[in-house]
Amino acid sequence: MSKPKVFLTRDIGPDAIDRLNQLVDSEVWPEKTPPTKQEIINHIDGALAIITMLTDPIDRDVIDNAQNLQLISQMAVGYDNIDLHYATSKHIPVGHTPDVLTETTADFTWALLMATARRVVESHNEVQNGIWKPWGPFVWTGTDVFGKTLGIIGLGRIGQAVARRAKGFNMKVLYNSRDRKPDVEKELNLEYVSLSDLLKRSDFVSLNTSLTKETYHLIDKKAINQMKPGAFLINTARGTIVDQEALYQALKEQKIAGAGLDVTDPEPIRPDDPILRLPNVVITPHIGSSSLKTRERMAMMMVENVEAILNHQTIPYCANPEVYADFE
Ligand code: DGY
Repeated sequence: MSKPKVFLTRDIGPDAIDRLNQLVDSEVWPEKTPPTKQEIINHIDGALAIITMLTDPIDRDVIDNAQNLQLISQMAVGYDNIDLHYATSKHIPVGHTPDVLTETTADFTWALLMATARRVVESHNEVQNGIWKPWGPFVWTGTDVFGKTLGIIGLGRIGQAVARRAKGFNMKVLYNSRDRKPDVEKELNLEYVSLSDLLKRSDFVSLNTSLTKETYHLIDKKAINQMKPGAFLINTARGTIVDQEALYQALKEQKIAGAGLDVTDPEPIRPDDPILRLPNVVITPHIGSSSLKTRERMAMMMVENVEAILNHQTIPYCANPEVYADFE
């Protein structure tokens, strides 16, 4: 009897694929660049499961073209590229990778925060280009982090992990989130404030919220204008939470001091995007969760979701648990 088919939109590593192939026939998208929507549709036919990345548009068309589909499993905690509601209506569980990447992404948020505040990349680039300005009183002066105010937008798992790290820097930590979290507030000594208050009072604003209709362009021109002139914006969430054109203008006119962006709009960023030429921006290519250990674990979580489907069990890492409501 032939094994069920699983389509993977990217290679998730030999260990995960070997384990998967004990149970299924996996077809791995062979390119380094993501498949287009049409290419996904072409390959998903007959598949029991699809393992997706945040770059893949998994909308109604894709779902409707996959008659046998019993699982969509995404190698990311965020799933804004998937029509979750539609998948649920079709009784398809959607898997993702919560928890495992929390600390890794929080570490990276701090890497960007420190890099922008202390001008790590700018000064590194000069040294690499053979220019070492001799030590001088005002060479590469940056901004202190210790003792400053950090504003966290979105107090989910990653937001909380970012806040925990701020303790070591003796920072005042403000937060704004869809839901107020009194227990976490108390434990981490946080102050809940309105978005406007947070923007006005923070020296560093960290975006740790998911992308929804409500958070799309949450940080627009009006929001940026409320930030302190010396403030920094750090985004390790999703690019479209920020109106990038407005951010570019603000950085160019030095309305705020700088930005650290692990996510942009679009991704990859266009090579001619003028924001790339600004000295006060550090941009990385969406690598917040990219430590080898975390990525390998994320891949295994994908396999565990597939195994659960094959065993007619509830998937362990599920973004739409309501999909099981009818069956309970
Ligand atoms: C996620 O998981 O949503 C990150 O953006 C990538 O790991």
